[in-house]
Amino acid sequence: MTGNSFQVHSSEDQTSREYFHHSSAQRVNTDIVLVEAIRKQYPHLELVVVPQNFTNLLAYASAGYAKATPLEDSVRDPVYGVSLKQRSYIPPNRRLDSRPGVFVEQIIFGKFMYKWKDQEVILYIANGRDGVSSYPDLTNQYILTTNEHKVDELLKLASTWNQQLHNEVWVFDQGYWQKSAELYNSVQKSDWDSVILDEDMKKALISDVENFFDGQKTYTDLKVPWKRGVIYYGPPGNGKTISIKAMMHMLYKRGAEKDDDRLTVPTLYVRTLASYGGPEYSLRQIFSKARQEAPCYLVFEDLDSIVSDNVRSYFLNEVDGLTSNDGILMVGSTNHLDRLDPGIAKRPSRFDRKYFFSNPDFDQRVQYAQFWQGKLSDNKNIDFPDVLCAKIAEITDKFSFAYMQEAFVATLLAIAVRGGKNPDTFALDAQRFAGPEDPMTNVDKQARRDRMHRDDADDLDKLELWVEMQKQVKILKDEMEEKDMKAVELPIRPRAGVGSLNRYRDELDVLLHGGQAEHSGTRF
Ligand SMILES: Nc1ncnc2c1ncn2[C@@H]1O[C@H](COP(=O)(O)OP(=O)(O)O)[C@@H](O)[C@H]1O
Ligand SMILES: [Mg+2]
Repeated sequence: MTGNSFQVHSSEDQTSREYFHHSSAQRVNTDIVLVEAIRKQYPHLELVVVPQNFTNLLAYASAGYAKATPLEDSVRDPVYGVSLKQRSYIPPNRRLDSRPGVFVEQIIFGKFMYKWKDQEVILYIANGRDGVSSYPDLTNQYILTTNEHKVDELLKLASTWNQQLHNEVWVFDQGYWQKSAELYNSVQKSDWDSVILDEDMKKALISDVENFFDGQKTYTDLKVPWKRGVIYYGPPGNGKTISIKAMMHMLYKRGAEKDDDRLTVPTLYVRTLASYGGPEYSLRQIFSKARQEAPCYLVFEDLDSIVSDNVRSYFLNEVDGLTSNDGILMVGSTNHLDRLDPGIAKRPSRFDRKYFFSNPDFDQRVQYAQFWQGKLSDNKNIDFPDVLCAKIAEITDKFSFAYMQEAFVATLLAIAVRGGKNPDTFALDAQRFAGPEDPMTNVDKQARRDRMHRDDADDLDKLELWVEMQKQVKILKDEMEEKDMKAVELPIRPRAGVGSLNRYRDELDVLLHGGQAEHSGTRF
């Protein structure tokens, strides 16, 4: 140890003595200490030191490309064994998750025999977090080899692999790009079939994107830069986000099959520009990643809040600047096209194509009710005759899809809370328990359904789903009116997003489908 050692005279507690002693050196550099020790121990081997952030050799091995065998047992010293790990348990991130949490093990110090192809090296891994703050949290890998050249090949392969996505989406948040498996999984569940849109518009949305990614040659022949921007706008809750997700899913499937030689198109998803380096720094990070990943689909959710007045010029610099943005298709969504600077929305090669996501018309509301009818078709407790679809569409004029969804969710919850029984079932139950009928008699379901299908006002008024739906729609209408009133009083106040309206969605998901769990993997 160099520097002034702190003299501790008390020898009462050996551990605290060591701790204070260790923390009082003038300067600590674990890397240098280790390099010195390793060179002494293996004077005949070459040493290559590789930071772990971009080249994670253990992750590469656990993906099946190499084999890392721990050498924990090679030294039988109870104190100075060659392994130090941290173990933690991460509980499920939602209380409703049915799956258990996971154990995560992080290697602080370890020694491995590392094999790939026909090569073999000794690998030390050491977390050299020095100083009092957690930054820099640096883990180095010390590779001992007889063939440095082969190690370079390994580094190339492992780093490339590390940069690629493996069932993840790149998400920009808090100032850096991170891989999100959660968003990837939710995208896997999105598809165009569950997005109700005008058919022509849906086709145009899709072909716009397909043509762009298929069209590199066309753009080059026309001598125009191969880049585009599209805006999805309209009142909240009408499918901008779910369309983006369906598009992401579609793009991931490109090139996935063997005979499909198109390039897959990853999505880069920007949540916010907020970061410790400020928005200018964020924009630089965002676009440099997009150029690296191109061809790619670059998503700015709620574009108006991302490109505020003070960052507009930085944004345009990146979009129009001298650096090539070839292969980047940007999509921005906004509930407030009017708040977007015309410079962004109107110029070619920026966001020159716009799609309006309106509130659903009558036919679309019928379609949406049919979508729920399909979802509920195997639920024995709910009678949902065809005629109800039009009835529901009639009373939900001016509703967005998200409001309609809310009407369904609230209705079903109310019914579920009450025991999930319609008035008929109640009547039958009552009869059973009250009296003469044989409790084992089968209820003739078909006959009951046929009865329900008749467009008979009396029958409908007994239908629990319809009765409850009318109540919920009324509540939502009152809520909407109240909001409109407030919007008139305070025109610049941001309107409540659909987020708050979706509060029951997860609960309902659990009721209907048993919920879905997310899980995390092992960190190295
Ligand atoms: N066009 C649509 N077709 C089917 N469901 C829709 C549609 N638009 C919205 N929804 C429902 O409303 C919810 C919110 O929609 P979203 O796409 O997030 O709206 P926004 O336009 O505000 O991005 C969705 O999760 C979906 O359940
Ligand atoms: Mg949205």
